[in-house]
Amino acid sequence: MKIFRILFLFIAVQVSAQQGGMWIPSLLQGMNEDEMQSLGSKLSAQDIYDVNNSSLKDAIGHFNGGCTSEVISDKGLILTNHHCGFSQIQSHSSLENDYLKDGFWAKNFKEELPNNSLYIEFIVRIEDVTEQVLEGVTDAMSDREQQSIRGRNSTAIEKAAKKEDWQDTRIKAFYKGNQYFLFVTERYTDIRLVGAPPSSIGKFGSDTDNWVWPRHTGDFALFRIYADKNNRPAAYSEDNVPFTPKHYLPISLDGVSEDDFTLVFGFPGTTDEYLPAAAIAQTVEKINPRAIAIREAALKVIDAHMKADDQIRIQYASKQARIANAWKKWQGENLGIEKSGAIGIKKAQEAEFTKQLKAKGLESKYGNVLPELERLYNEIEEINVKRTSFMEVFLRTNELTPMIFGLAQLEGAAANSEEAFEKQRDANIARMKGVYKNYNAKVDREVFEAVMPLYTDEVDASIYDKTAFTNLESALKVLEGNSSEVVEKLNKDAAYQYIKPFIIAFYTEVEPRFQALNPQINNLEQQYMTALMEVLPEQRYFPDANGTLRVTYGKVKGYEPRDAVYYEPLTYLDGVMEKYIPGDYEFDVPEKLQELYANKDYGQYTDATGKVPVCFLGTNHTTGGNSGSPAIDAYGNLVGLNFDRVWEGTMSDIYYDPEICRNIMVDARYILFIIDKYAGAQHLIDEMSLVRPKSGNTQTKKTKKTKKTKVKK
Ligand code: ARG
Ligand code: GLU
Repeated sequence: MKIFRILFLFIAVQVSAQQGGMWIPSLLQGMNEDEMQSLGSKLSAQDIYDVNNSSLKDAIGHFNGGCTSEVISDKGLILTNHHCGFSQIQSHSSLENDYLKDGFWAKNFKEELPNNSLYIEFIVRIEDVTEQVLEGVTDAMSDREQQSIRGRNSTAIEKAAKKEDWQDTRIKAFYKGNQYFLFVTERYTDIRLVGAPPSSIGKFGSDTDNWVWPRHTGDFALFRIYADKNNRPAAYSEDNVPFTPKHYLPISLDGVSEDDFTLVFGFPGTTDEYLPAAAIAQTVEKINPRAIAIREAALKVIDAHMKADDQIRIQYASKQARIANAWKKWQGENLGIEKSGAIGIKKAQEAEFTKQLKAKGLESKYGNVLPELERLYNEIEEINVKRTSFMEVFLRTNELTPMIFGLAQLEGAAANSEEAFEKQRDANIARMKGVYKNYNAKVDREVFEAVMPLYTDEVDASIYDKTAFTNLESALKVLEGNSSEVVEKLNKDAAYQYIKPFIIAFYTEVEPRFQALNPQINNLEQQYMTALMEVLPEQRYFPDANGTLRVTYGKVKGYEPRDAVYYEPLTYLDGVMEKYIPGDYEFDVPEKLQELYANKDYGQYTDATGKVPVCFLGTNHTTGGNSGSPAIDAYGNLVGLNFDRVWEGTMSDIYYDPEICRNIMVDARYILFIIDKYAGAQHLIDEMSLVRPKSGNTQTKKTKKTKKTKVKK
């Protein structure tokens, strides 16, 4: 019986060994390279990441710090998600030129639209600097001492690192602070909008289909990087020219079939894969339900107004999408944790860990880590719930309270120095200008009325009648004058008077308790990570996502979310038409697309069945931030564009289960089809390299250009 179990465990590990994990691109040689090749990849670790020659990594850019994008032509053409470029598309839109609704296609370079404060950042080089960062740190030191030495070391390393003048350096912690890497980066800031499909394609299915399979969304948009005459980053200028990349991704017309290898290359934001069971239980039972309830209350109000009024629909589009996105994700996360039995599995792993601690004589070293973590998670629970409530009610749903929050910081700065005050005033003014562009006081008041009761019994919405902070003009007036004048005016404002005490109470009663406990938890989590790797060394450990460049890989695969339900991994244009509801705000289909479908005017963008593929599923382990990441085939060509995960699988941020965790990608052929046949933007297709690797043709359009560039070390 026992042997049987061990054997079973071994097989289970073998199968899942090849799935899951977000890996550091500079460390793929060995295990990852082997795993990828066993899944069908023909790529070497160096094809993916190389410092001395161009490699796939040179085509991957961090899009404004929150999404991923990739270069797809030698003229700096950039592909990312529609939802990643959403606020840029929105900011160029008006009732007359409604690019959200109708789409936008620049016919030439001149028509491409510049964007304020949008950047794309590339990784030049990654270096392991663990030893240098930890130099002089000893176990005997207090947390604070250790932290300050690590900080000092990091600053010195960042300063001393070899780089060009226009490049930056940054050190990031991995494995909860057990390893450190230095990143040399290059940031381009002249980024222009090139093309976007209408929302009825780019956001087809909207919230109903968000986080859901089967999916039929053409979630893509095109931008272009401009550089100075030397191809270096430069602020927007008419004289700037299209950027020449070190590498750009060819696009495959052959696509993928079930079981094909795919690799997703991008910038995943945050994951928490090594939480103890107690922490997962807290998230599922306490935190998520709270946050879901607050957002639900806000969404009810916003959705109703957006449906009733086109102006509000445009103004609130971005906000609504942001609020709804996490609201729905948390629900799926809870569902998946329950379905996969993640808490039970973690508990069993913890029992095994504890058993091995004893067996390996490591009890005195690590024996207290898990029990202490559990105790602290218990202690912090109530505080975590309060913090979540505060964040959601005061900072993430309505707009008046975050404004007052910023103004309270302004008052704080005034108490410090005139200089701090001026800086805060500028920041507040800038924020207000952004907020009031898309503000509707009536909607905001109703949101406030809906969410505040979830925080306090003393709700007073009449502040909206009296405050100066429901329009830009009167708000700016309050901010005129010297610091004492401004502070005096602020404290006479009805909204300020009402909201400030809540902020003070939060910062005197809740936050200090959090700040006392949280560093202890972080410290123990670092120890837990160290202990896991020492006690159970045969397991496969990947570092949690931290907004740095990662590689994840897997296969194209369907899944079984419920008993007797199996989902195919590919969807087609036929499915778009099946979902079509004329005039619906989520499922309308543009006339032109209906025509193309009726006439089967598909060009070269079909698969072997003669149909146009739209989306597909894979076992790639992705998270927020991977939006816009390229899905790359076994040969290094772009086959898809990552944009989502399946609902039951969103728990992969906490627990990755290869049975139900799937990422969702738009098929590259759908993107090409829309650009070419729908938008008639043939000139953009001409810029790209279209290839057919499965029929051995890697040069359908143009020779793949990869310049060999020597980079200084
Ligand atoms: N769920 C995807 C992500 O997390 C897409 C979000 C945008 N789409 C939407 N319907 N809100 O970003
Ligand atoms: N849509 C997500 C994003 O914005 C990616 C999907 C996910 O979270 O997996 O990054």
